[in-house]
Amino acid sequence: MFPPLRVGLSATLPPPNILVIFGATGDLTARKLLPALFDLFCARKLPAQFCIVGFARREKSDDEFRADARASAQRFARAKPDDARARWDEFAQRIFYHTGSFDSFDAYTRLAERLRELDTTYGTQGNRLFYLATAPEHYALIAERLGAAHLAPPGGPWERLIVEKPFGNDLASAHALNRQLLAIFDESQIYRIDHYLGKETVQNIFAFRFANTILEPLWNRNYVDHVQITAAESIGIENRGEYYDKAGALRDMVQSHLLQLVALTAMEPPVSFDATAVRDEKIKVLRAICPLCDRDVDDVVVRGQYDAYRTEPRVAPDSNTETFVALKLMIENWRWAGVPFYVRTGKRLAKRATEIQIHFKPVPHPLFAHDVGNGITPNVIALRIQPDEGIYWEFAAKRPGQAIQLSNVRMDFCYADSFGAAPGDAYETLLLDAMRGDATLFNRNDEVEVAWSLVMPILERWAQLPPPRFPNYAAGTWGPITADELLARDGRAWRAP
Ligand SMILES: NC(=O)c1ccc[n+]([C@@H]2O[C@H](COP(=O)([O-])OP(=O)(O)OC[C@H]3O[C@@H](n4cnc5c(N)ncnc54)[C@H](OP(=O)(O)O)[C@@H]3O)[C@@H](O)[C@H]2O)c1
Repeated sequence: MFPPLRVGLSATLPPPNILVIFGATGDLTARKLLPALFDLFCARKLPAQFCIVGFARREKSDDEFRADARASAQRFARAKPDDARARWDEFAQRIFYHTGSFDSFDAYTRLAERLRELDTTYGTQGNRLFYLATAPEHYALIAERLGAAHLAPPGGPWERLIVEKPFGNDLASAHALNRQLLAIFDESQIYRIDHYLGKETVQNIFAFRFANTILEPLWNRNYVDHVQITAAESIGIENRGEYYDKAGALRDMVQSHLLQLVALTAMEPPVSFDATAVRDEKIKVLRAICPLCDRDVDDVVVRGQYDAYRTEPRVAPDSNTETFVALKLMIENWRWAGVPFYVRTGKRLAKRATEIQIHFKPVPHPLFAHDVGNGITPNVIALRIQPDEGIYWEFAAKRPGQAIQLSNVRMDFCYADSFGAAPGDAYETLLLDAMRGDATLFNRNDEVEVAWSLVMPILERWAQLPPPRFPNYAAGTWGPITADELLARDGRAWRAP
C-alpha cells in the first residue's frame, strides 16, 4: 500500500490556536486572509478553540474591525455573511483588533497579555500563528519584537511565523532576512508563502505525476521535446505601481512562482510526501538549472514593457521596469539534459492564463502523408493552473470518413466538472497547513536563496546594459516580438494557453 497523499489534503482539524495578523487593515488581509478564514470556518475546518487578532497601526475597536471583516467576507469569500448570518455572528465573536506600531515594545507586551486572556476564554492553549501581512521591510523588525516579547508561554505550545512574499529583493537581502528570522525562530517554525503552491492545480501536479503509472516513462528527455510555462495576466499593475515599479516581472513572478512551477514539473519523485522530502527534490532541480552568464542573458532572456505602463499611477514616467519576461532554462541532470524549459510571464497580455505545457517529440516515422496529416502537431499535455483549472492531453485522431485525414483532438479534465466545484482559494490551504504544522507547500530558506541566485545574473546584466527600448509591446498581445524570436531560433513557437 502507498501512504496517502498528504499534501494540503489532510482532513484533520488543526489544533487550537490564535492567528495574529500583522497588517490587519491592509489589502491582503481584506481580499484574501479574512475571506479565506470565513470560508474555512463555514466549512467547519477550523478548530472550535480559535481566534483571530488583527494588529495594525490605525485606531479601531474590535467591533469596527469586525465590520470591516464582514464587508471583506461579503465581497471576497464564497460564503456570504448576508446569507449565513448565524455563522458570521459566531465567527465574528472570534475576531479582535489590537492597535499598535510594529516598532513599539509596549504594543507587543500588551499583545502578549491579550493573547493570554484569549487563551483563558477560548481555550487556545498558547498556540500562536503570526502572519506577516505587511510590507517586507517590517518582517525582521516584527520577528525581533516577537522574540523579545516571549509571546508563547513556556511548556509545550507552538509559535509559527508565516512570511508573505516577496522574500527579499535580491540574493543579499533574502540571505539577510533569513539570517534575521533564523536568529529568533527555528527553520521549522517559519512558513514562507508562495501562494501558487496552495493552488489546487499546482498540488495536482504531484498527484498527476506521482499517482499515475503511465506518465513516468514519458516524463523525460527521451519523449519530451520541450516545456513551456506561461503565467499571463490580462490586467496591468492595477494600484500596485509603487511596489511593482521597483520589483518588475523577473522579481515578482520568475524568482518565485515560475521557478516553483519549473521545480514541480521537473522534480524526481520524492520518497514520501513530507515537507523535507518534497523540498529536497525541488531544490535539486533548482540547483541543476544551468546558471546564466552575461552572454546567455543577452541570448536567452527577453524583457518587455507594455505600451501604457509609464502612465500608470505611481510609475516613473521614464521607468525601465519590465512587465514581461521570457527566458529559456536548461536543467542539467539525467532526466532533462537537452530539454529546454521556456518560461514567460507578463502583464496586459492577450488573456489571463497560467499553464504548463509538456510538448512531446514528434513520432519517429511519419506514417501519414503530409497532406492528410496537415496541421497535426506532436502531443501536448497541459496543466491549467488558472483559470478553468484542469489538465488536457492533445493528440491526433482520424477524422470521420473514408479517407485517412487527421486532426488534433483533446481529452480534457476540468476540475469543476469532475468534482462539482471550482477549487477553493490557495490561502485556505496554506492557512490550514500552517496551523497543522505541515510545511510541504511553503518555501525553505535554501530554496528561496537558490531561486534568487538564478535570477541575479539577469538583474546584474540588465543593470550594466544601456536602457532597453521600452515600451515594446502593445496591451492585449503576447508580448514583444523578441519573445517569439527566442523560440523561433530553436525552430519552435509559443503555443497560446
Ligand atoms: N495585496 C495582495 O493581494 C498581496 C498579494 C501577494 C502578496 N502580498 C504581500 O502581502 C504584504 C502586505 O500587502 P498589502 O497589500 O496588504 O499591504 P498594505 O495594504 O499596504 O497594508 C499594510 C498593513 O501594514 C500596516 N502597517 C504599516 N506600517 C505599520 C506600522 N509601522 N505599524 C503597524 N502597522 C503598520 C498597515 O496598517 P495601517 O494602515 O493601520 O497603518 C496595514 O495594515 C506585502 O508583503 C505584499 O507584497 C500582497
